[in-house]
Amino acid sequence: MGIRTWGYRPHETPVCTNEAREGFGMFLEQNRGAIGRPHMPAYWSLGFQLSRWGYGNIDVLKETVNRMHRYDIPYDVQHLDIDYMERRLDFTYDKENFAGLPEYLQELKKAGMHNIIILDPFITKDEEPGTYRPYDLGEEMGVWVNNSDGVTPAVGQAWPPGDSVFPDYTNPRTVEWWTQLCLEFKNVLDYDGIWIDMNEPSNFLQGQFPGCADNDINNPPYIPSISDRSLAQKTLCPDSKTYLGEHYNTHSLFGWSQTAPTFHAAQQATGKRAFVLSRSTFVGSGKHGGHWLGDNFSQWKDMHYSIIGMLEFNLFGIPYIGADICGFNYNTTYELCLRWMQLGSFYPFSRNHNAEGNMEQDPAFFGEEFAKISRATLRIRYSLLPYLYTLFFESHVHGNTVVRSLMHEFTSDQQSRGIDTAFLWGPAFMVAPVLEEGARSVDVYFPEATWFDYYTGYKVPSAWRGTYATVAAPLNKIPLFIRGGYILPEQAPATTTTKSRLNPFGLIIALNEQGEASGSLFWDDGDSIDTIENENYFLAKYTYGAGNLKTEILKNGYRGADSLRYNKITILGLKLKPHAVTLNGRAIRRDAFSYELNGVRAALRDYEKSRGHGKSQ
Ligand code: NOJ
Repeated sequence: MGIRTWGYRPHETPVCTNEAREGFGMFLEQNRGAIGRPHMPAYWSLGFQLSRWGYGNIDVLKETVNRMHRYDIPYDVQHLDIDYMERRLDFTYDKENFAGLPEYLQELKKAGMHNIIILDPFITKDEEPGTYRPYDLGEEMGVWVNNSDGVTPAVGQAWPPGDSVFPDYTNPRTVEWWTQLCLEFKNVLDYDGIWIDMNEPSNFLQGQFPGCADNDINNPPYIPSISDRSLAQKTLCPDSKTYLGEHYNTHSLFGWSQTAPTFHAAQQATGKRAFVLSRSTFVGSGKHGGHWLGDNFSQWKDMHYSIIGMLEFNLFGIPYIGADICGFNYNTTYELCLRWMQLGSFYPFSRNHNAEGNMEQDPAFFGEEFAKISRATLRIRYSLLPYLYTLFFESHVHGNTVVRSLMHEFTSDQQSRGIDTAFLWGPAFMVAPVLEEGARSVDVYFPEATWFDYYTGYKVPSAWRGTYATVAAPLNKIPLFIRGGYILPEQAPATTTTKSRLNPFGLIIALNEQGEASGSLFWDDGDSIDTIENENYFLAKYTYGAGNLKTEILKNGYRGADSLRYNKITILGLKLKPHAVTLNGRAIRRDAFSYELNGVRAALRDYEKSRGHGKSQ
């Protein structure tokens, strides 16, 4: 067995999986060429995130953060929902209940964490004149959605007290106003990203009484059956005027039109890669933001639906996607939340979020055993983040999906077409969660390929291919499998990505029946703007065949990659016991590699502590 690193060869073509070139991949590549390719998320935003509506005060928030830390649960991001605001007014914070919040956010940042604030697209008009700058400045600049007269602002009601007006993000003046406020607010709360909510736009007033004029636009002869009263239900009157045209025509673009300006404002405010999470999306939203699947319920069926939503949004070109882990509405239960933490550990956007008034449900709330299981599962996520990040790179460059269905990879396999209970990260990592209460096993469908159990490295029996097999899933385990033929980069996990990014790398080489595998690693500093466009990144291609691993460096534009180390290479599926291992022709000490007698796993550890990363020596 030989491990060979090649001198780097400048190469402009990024590595693709087969998926990028065939079938769905070809279609998606063309589609993204038209609608915009998904943005490259910051590395930290692939870490685990915590949120809840209803911490109520800073002490509860701190207590929650502390118990997460006490249990060493990997955790990168803390969200602040509307209760951080003073009376739910955008661009304010509650100086009584959240006294000391600015300093606390700094503290979290010093610990390597990141903070997200929520902003809503409605601005109260009923504060004392001269006391609420977002309204006063917006009035002065004329940034609101107007009534059908095109002059007077359309009025509704939402979270803030009194009546609200709605910023019209299709208007360039509004973009200026919004950017200005986001920049100013960064000096108040040191946020790293912005969560834009209620941007359908949501309006609590319409639909409660017939507030819209009786005309053909507001009351067309046909309305979708979902809207049982009027098109204005819970939103603005269709005849309201936006800069782009009547709200009737622009309604579905409201959230979309808010996303790009928020992305640019966040980028300007932080000087780093932007994080924007939007509730309302449209074709092309993925270019500037991610999405969560909205207000779900703490129910087993909603956990199942989240897989379907996640697969759909990957097809829509919005791969940074997840659902509220443990459920938003209703109280969760220990078992549902535990299983959901396991599944949610593999959402691209992995956030536990909860509605006001419900019992707490962060993974540290349920005690030692729950925390231990969540920690273990999240550590698997964190160890595979280099693989997930590389998938996002491919998605950004080619438009590929990040998470995909089995059908997506095994297009001619009829049986795979109906499967919405399992999914893949890229082409090579299968997640088969428990979705039923009380279940301690999962019936997993294995399409025709070589598969390995992630935990043991054992090869899945050939007889299971093309059929369902019952796989054990005790409470502490979510079934995970690696597909032969692929190489997955990994990195030792830590409690934040800030820390894990300093850890040694590894490779999981899962061989196919021909004893071959390939894969790639994309790496950059994780949060600078446009590293790919500016070619400030590192890209390696790995190929394994005939007992040799080759590393080809396709791009060497990130100096930080020089200090990276691999200290573990695991090969799954070797048929013969290796007698010697060489690195660039030189023998490796016998005690630096191990081989398991079941014949499936060989691991090389710490073999290259003092060597450069993938360069010829
Ligand atoms: C609705 C959002 O969907 C939810 O996630 C959030 O917690 C509430 N608004 C309160 O801001």
